[in-house]
Amino acid sequence: MRHSLIGSFIGLLILGCGSTDASSGAGGSGATGGSSAGVGGMAAGAAGSSSSTAGGGGVAGSVSGAGGNSAGSSGAGAAGSSGAGGASGAGGASVVGNCSPPADVFSPITDLAATGCVDPNDPTKPVARAVTYEVNSPLWSDSADKARAFVLPAGGKIHVRDCINHLATDCPGGVQDDGRWEFPVGTVMIKIFMFDSKLVETRLFMHLDADDWVGYSYEWDEKQTKATITTSDRAEVMFNTGTRTVDWHYPSQADCLTCHNSGAGFTLGPETAQMNRVVGGKNQLDAFTTLGLFDAPLVMPYKKALVTPYTGQAGAQTPGASKTALARSYLHANCGFCHRPDGAFSLFDLRNDTALKDTNVCSAAITKAAPTGATATVRMSPGHSMESAMWQRMNIASPDDGRMPQIASYAVDANAVNVVGSWIDALTDCNSTP
Ligand code: HEC
Ligand code: HEC
Repeated sequence: MRHSLIGSFIGLLILGCGSTDASSGAGGSGATGGSSAGVGGMAAGAAGSSSSTAGGGGVAGSVSGAGGNSAGSSGAGAAGSSGAGGASGAGGASVVGNCSPPADVFSPITDLAATGCVDPNDPTKPVARAVTYEVNSPLWSDSADKARAFVLPAGGKIHVRDCINHLATDCPGGVQDDGRWEFPVGTVMIKIFMFDSKLVETRLFMHLDADDWVGYSYEWDEKQTKATITTSDRAEVMFNTGTRTVDWHYPSQADCLTCHNSGAGFTLGPETAQMNRVVGGKNQLDAFTTLGLFDAPLVMPYKKALVTPYTGQAGAQTPGASKTALARSYLHANCGFCHRPDGAFSLFDLRNDTALKDTNVCSAAITKAAPTGATATVRMSPGHSMESAMWQRMNIASPDDGRMPQIASYAVDANAVNVVGSWIDALTDCNSTP
């Protein structure tokens, strides 16, 4: 199935399209090639403050409201040339991009195989030069299996915000930002979604300029021959894996930035506690150091690994982990990028490093109308999972009914409900750590 790029597509979420001055400070990375020139002041970020609820494509509108003119700016420079932008509209699949942000964010490459981010001969796999990785505590995506990778621009290095070593200017939020990774301009992050080993979606998240990222979602055909960029907001498909039919929802582009918001640092998985993980017999942090991926040596000892909350796609539940460690790890990875200072809903803070009494969930009154049938009056009631708004909202399947997270998930994570529920039930007060 082929879609054509509709004007409203990215237009809705590019905020304040500034100047088109070329070669916006590529932050020392040296070489994105010519392809990132012209991206100029495009601001795709800043979506953080939108606190939209679910439902339809309403989100896009609320995002565009935040910024300046939402750009009908079609022609933006780069018609031909520069690998990335060039391939877009055409059936010019012979033009292969070099896996970098498109020159014109309104004209991304529509055929995944031509982006240069995947193996042109087998677009189900990341390109050979991509660095693959795993996280300890994954995002629940309606039980999809996932694979992850990133492609750095030539010469680009990862900066690890580590407040043990760095100054307050580097980590204004203090120790709570400890370990977050910052990728250079030109980076492309890749995430692949699978059921029964068949790909349903490939997402590309691209670092445009110092302040901005943009996300693209590619929809796989059932034959696994082609993935094409999605152009409609929140398209739903019934995807036949050969053994079953899966109900799958593609997030909108605005949804990408509600979760991947500036307050959370745009990229969400890569932080030291998530990446401190043995893969193929080797710790990823050691492996990446050997590859020379960091701009400075990592602080030793490494920040403590997040535990794996339950046995699933990230492997076995971490043996011996406390109820607190299991639940807080899940909440960090699945809620903490929105429920944090400057996130999409910042009245409470579910990051793992925030002490429970400081999260503003424990015995804290709810501020939003409770979902239909939900009785909890506090966000979390120690000792009482069923009287906790957090737990109740995790038990709702549909975003339309008050589910948390309220976007990009349409199925209850039963394992997580158990892990979080048994932690809450074991709490005796807001200082206990069962
Ligand atoms: C419900 C929130 C949510 C939405 C919506 C969402 N993501 Fe993510 N995404 C995450 C989280 C959390 C992670 C890290 C955990 C993981 O990898 O399992 C992640 C990881 C990724 C990664 C790997 C790099 C990283 O930041 O960790 C890519 C690439 C990505 N997402 C792309 C996208 C794109 C493109 C869209 C929109 C089409 C999108 N995501 C929508 C929450 C979201
Ligand atoms: C994509 C961002 C996002 C993610 C991820 C997310 N939330 Fe929320 N959350 C919100 C927003 C926005 C609201 C306000 C909803 C409304 O307007 O009713 C909210 C509201 C809530 C409330 C009600 C708070 C109150 O004061 O009434 C609870 C409880 C909650 N979330 C728990 C969670 C939990 C638990 C998770 C993880 C399993 C989670 N959320 C993940 C954005 C998010």
